[in-house]
Amino acid sequence: MSTTPSLHSVIGRDHFITETWAALERKSLYMNDLRRIGKTRIIRRMHAEPLAGWLSSFSDLEGTHTAEEFAARVYKDSTAVLTTKKWALRKMSALLGRVAGTELMGVLKLPDGQPAPWKEVLRTTFEDISDVLDQQPEGTRMVFFWDEVPFMLDNIANKQGKDHAAQVLDLLRELSQRHDRIRLLLTGSIGIHHVLGSLWSGGYKGSPLNHMDLIQPGPLAPEDAKEFATSVIVRRRLRCADKGACAETLSTLASHVPFYIEKLTACLPLDTDLTPTHIQQALDHVLTSVHNDWDLDYYFRRVEVVFPKTKKLVLVILDTIAGSAAAALSFQEIRQQVSAHMIVDDDEVLREHLKLLGMDHYLVRGANGYRFYLPLIHRWWKISRELK
Ligand SMILES: Nc1ncnc2c1ncn2[C@@H]1O[C@H](COP(=O)(O)OP(=O)(O)OP(=O)(O)O)[C@@H](O)[C@H]1O
Ligand SMILES: [Mg+2]
Repeated sequence: MSTTPSLHSVIGRDHFITETWAALERKSLYMNDLRRIGKTRIIRRMHAEPLAGWLSSFSDLEGTHTAEEFAARVYKDSTAVLTTKKWALRKMSALLGRVAGTELMGVLKLPDGQPAPWKEVLRTTFEDISDVLDQQPEGTRMVFFWDEVPFMLDNIANKQGKDHAAQVLDLLRELSQRHDRIRLLLTGSIGIHHVLGSLWSGGYKGSPLNHMDLIQPGPLAPEDAKEFATSVIVRRRLRCADKGACAETLSTLASHVPFYIEKLTACLPLDTDLTPTHIQQALDHVLTSVHNDWDLDYYFRRVEVVFPKTKKLVLVILDTIAGSAAAALSFQEIRQQVSAHMIVDDDEVLREHLKLLGMDHYLVRGANGYRFYLPLIHRWWKISRELK
């Protein structure tokens, strides 16, 4: 077990990464999970150390606002990856002529100075990549790791219209299906279903992700989270009466999420012989304080944004589950307890909201019913809402 502290190490994801490369052999993927769980770390690591036989490209698309910018980005990323290969992007070179690579505000220009049509740029770039891959040893593939895809789609929808965002998704689907040696691994900090929901409400009828498999990394395994906590204790030079016990407490209280392990560790005093009780007290202090940078209040604010018309129902559902002493509550138990606070005249509305709260990673549904996905968020919700 290594306890060498490193700011950029990726602990506990080896198995998930191996599985993800295997899944990419078969299909493109959408990685979906709670914010801060470690999605970006995973794809950055996969890009930094691709599996043999893979070429890879990484882009954070949060700052991309138009379909034209996106297409230019994909072209430029592809040239960066493929310049070392024998075959250049020949069809794109022909399209762009001697002005190849010239941009105006992030948009590629044609020889006549007009913006290059974004669909053509994407289609031609993918064709070129396929041609290059055909010249590589058999089985060579390329993967695009694209982070913050929902933000980009939202940006495009706001700036160019929902129809444009839908066309981008449809084209990606078309390209994935046509080019079997090119894969996509998409992710983002907000759920893509929100963007899709908005496109559907605008009349779009497509299911642009059904050519992809969904993957979810989840928190670290408990032993990996403990190893990570140990490495942070060492890095921060904390004094622990029993390092193993402190690491265990840190990782459990932080729900095995590295981001929260780091945050909690940063709250601990350097001049104390720490025990699990100190760690517990530090967490309680953070969760009751309004002055902290954990941004857990996001989960409350988000209810207002995502459920503007049914905020009350959502709060009552979450309060009911958070306030219960049971490990999980069944649908019937939730319905009964929610009914004590408000009229629930349609079970389907309740079912739908439980499903949506699952998609947004507030809740998970297990064999015994619904519970909070992360015990840490459960604990914070209970404290911040002053539930018994
Ligand atoms: N496997 C890991 N090993 C070490 N540190 C990690 C690991 N995963 C995540 N972290 C830490 O947690 C932080 C958040 O991780 P990351 O940015 O990958 O989360 P994310 O799921 O992409 O979040 P968001 O949804 O907000 O984009 C990282 O900056 C890093 O400090
Ligand atoms: Mg991220």
